[in-house]
Amino acid sequence: MNVLIIGSGGREHCLVWKIAQSKLVNHLFAIPGNAGIAQIAKCEDIPVLKENFKDILIFIKKNKIDFTVIGPEAPLVDGIVDFLNENNCLAFGPDKIAAQIEGSKVFTKRICMKYGIPAANAVFFKKSELENAIKYINNLKDDNFPYVIKADGLAAGKGVIITKNKSELRDALTGFFVEEKFGKSGDEVIIEDFISGFEISLLCLCDGNILIPMDLAQDYKKIYDNDIGGNTGGMGSYSPLTFISGALYEKILNKIIFPTFNALKAEGINYKGILYGGIIVRENEPFLLEYNCRFGDPETQAVLPRLKDDILPLLINCTNGTLKDTKLNWENNKTVCVVLASKGYPESSSKGDIISGLENIAQESKVLVFHAGTKKDSDKIVTNGGRVLNIIASAETFKEARNIVYDSIKKIKFNGMQFRKDIALKVEEI
Ligand code: GLY
Repeated sequence: MNVLIIGSGGREHCLVWKIAQSKLVNHLFAIPGNAGIAQIAKCEDIPVLKENFKDILIFIKKNKIDFTVIGPEAPLVDGIVDFLNENNCLAFGPDKIAAQIEGSKVFTKRICMKYGIPAANAVFFKKSELENAIKYINNLKDDNFPYVIKADGLAAGKGVIITKNKSELRDALTGFFVEEKFGKSGDEVIIEDFISGFEISLLCLCDGNILIPMDLAQDYKKIYDNDIGGNTGGMGSYSPLTFISGALYEKILNKIIFPTFNALKAEGINYKGILYGGIIVRENEPFLLEYNCRFGDPETQAVLPRLKDDILPLLINCTNGTLKDTKLNWENNKTVCVVLASKGYPESSSKGDIISGLENIAQESKVLVFHAGTKKDSDKIVTNGGRVLNIIASAETFKEARNIVYDSIKKIKFNGMQFRKDIALKVEEI
């Protein structure tokens, strides 16, 4: 088969790496890819925007691509799967209606409310309801803060603000409705209770009728150690989560994941692709934080290296509605992924800084390097975005995996390189 992967991050490099091992693959392609993906797939620099879906289709037809895997959420929310299907192309991912699970936080919250799925209590306001929203905020009890305010639509991970008092909440609301910081994504907002606890990520394969959970992972969202500083796309991850008890895992599946999947079916939504549950656990009780409609980044980089199975038939079975009787097989080892970010991230990112030392890593079989914001500049690889590289190792223990990852990082250099030193530290003794 000829397979195309859409996207340019560490998640997509990991997908390309895993799919390249499939016995079903002939040729691999990526749009737009990055410097690492280009080492295993033929990359074509088409911007992944709605107005370019036609160009992607032309590329698919020209290269006789049999199957397209969509990495990021934006094209899914914009209906790329519908568009490709209408043009007789097989594509992995939810269609536009199903992708609302990530594309509209209001849509997902309404599902939770209607079907009794545990999540924070929330109210919604449209831009035209600014005055009502201010009145609502003014009537909140000071003691009940913090509250969270979220943009309804996609906001590249930046549309969620935790506010400590009424003034911060009013300022945040003004940011959405008056300053329009998040454009149309902020035309409707959710104000909800803040739930404290720890977060876990559960990626599930779905074929419209059957849902199969993958092993759990944990992501680190803040830029600095000890969860300090601004929010990022994710600075590292590890898998599996051996500290989650069987009872808690059952609650996550039976109170949140399966009820959501069944709710979608009841609403007439045929969910195919990855359903990624972002779960928060407070006092051993799980609550839904958010759903994403695609593989997590950087969770994928910690989860897929542990998957023993050929991933391509799994993805095709999701698309064809033929997941029945699938059982996933996992390595017992522990995997740690650390993200190397560029200078200024997450507020900004630095492009064009020369990355050195990668050649020293490639020879070490225990370490995987998945590129994210990188590009080739004549014979050099340079930074090309906020999250630049993912360094991954698997070992019998998290301690060993961490040692391998952090020893490897010492060999890589670029101007302003930053990374967290505490990824999987809390599970080091497991
Ligand atoms: N790791 C967070 C995300 O993929 O959205």
